Amino acid sequence: MKASSKANSNIALIKYWGKRDKKLILPQNSSVSMTLDSMGVHTTVEFDEKYDKDIVIINDQELPEGEGKKEVTDALDAIRERGKSQLKAKVLSKSNFPIGAGLASSAAGLAALALAGTKALGLDLDSRELSIMARRCSGSASRSVDGGFVQWIRGEQEDGLDSYGKQLFPEDHWPEFRMVVAITSLAEKKIKSRAGMSKTVDNCPYYNCWLNTIDEDIEKVKDGLARKDFTLVGRTAEENCMKMHALMITTKPSIIYWNPATMRILHSVMEWRDDGLESYFTIDAGPQVKIICLEKDLKTIKEKLKGIEGIEDVVICKPGKGAELTEDHLF
Ligand code: PMV
Repeated sequence: MKASSKANSNIALIKYWGKRDKKLILPQNSSVSMTLDSMGVHTTVEFDEKYDKDIVIINDQELPEGEGKKEVTDALDAIRERGKSQLKAKVLSKSNFPIGAGLASSAAGLAALALAGTKALGLDLDSRELSIMARRCSGSASRSVDGGFVQWIRGEQEDGLDSYGKQLFPEDHWPEFRMVVAITSLAEKKIKSRAGMSKTVDNCPYYNCWLNTIDEDIEKVKDGLARKDFTLVGRTAEENCMKMHALMITTKPSIIYWNPATMRILHSVMEWRDDGLESYFTIDAGPQVKIICLEKDLKTIKEKLKGIEGIEDVVICKPGKGAELTEDHLF
């Protein structure tokens, strides 16, 4: 009753922001992401009668009872429901990047949990079923089951069985495509995405405008990816990110995930672009900036980032692979 898996984070080019069903984690809109090759989580899950409660250890720290642990035990409940089991579990997870800071750690962590957890209960899910399971653990995790470029289809059904991540293009589709993750703060964010998006749906006067333009953004980015039109993909992703942050900022009370270093990077990317260095940015529910660029410009961008105050670390990501099982158990 033990299984282990590895899964990578993903970063959305077209964002998911808002749920239409909080329990099943059904999104208001479809989204498109890239699975990253160098930000991953390795997880071992064991269900056994010897545990009288769920034990969750992340990066060598056992989680105390509370909000953070509840996210994982809720995910375990969804897995138990699917596997018709009452057994408690021990979960041990290690990530190779900071968690809870807007780096999509929940996507990687909960996709890895969905895969190892269902396997540990003897289930053999196909990619669509696994994505639905991962979605119930954390929305964006539905996009980390597959590698490369993935669309999380919104779906229409109330049971959520048509809302899952589907690979658009595999990881070797566009080998020159890069995301440069500029980390500006390692602190855990104060407002988790789950709470942030719920406030936005309830309070932001522009939320419907967002929904009205999403399908167009999705089509543009899919077309751009298919034709490897870097300008179309980058520009659409940046505009979509700005629309999402505009929603956050105009929610009452306002939600601002950016810090001064975030702003410095945005301005720099725009200036470089005016000077002919084509790159774009996207930002999630945190202060980190992901710069979208092509391999040929990496060296110049890394050099330029060195001159910006407040960047703690830089991680270069290529399109990466989807979640997979491993025999390498962590306990
Ligand atoms: O799945 P969550 O609850 O971590 O929400 C992810 C929200 C964003 O990262 C801001 C957007 C996205 O599509 O990944």
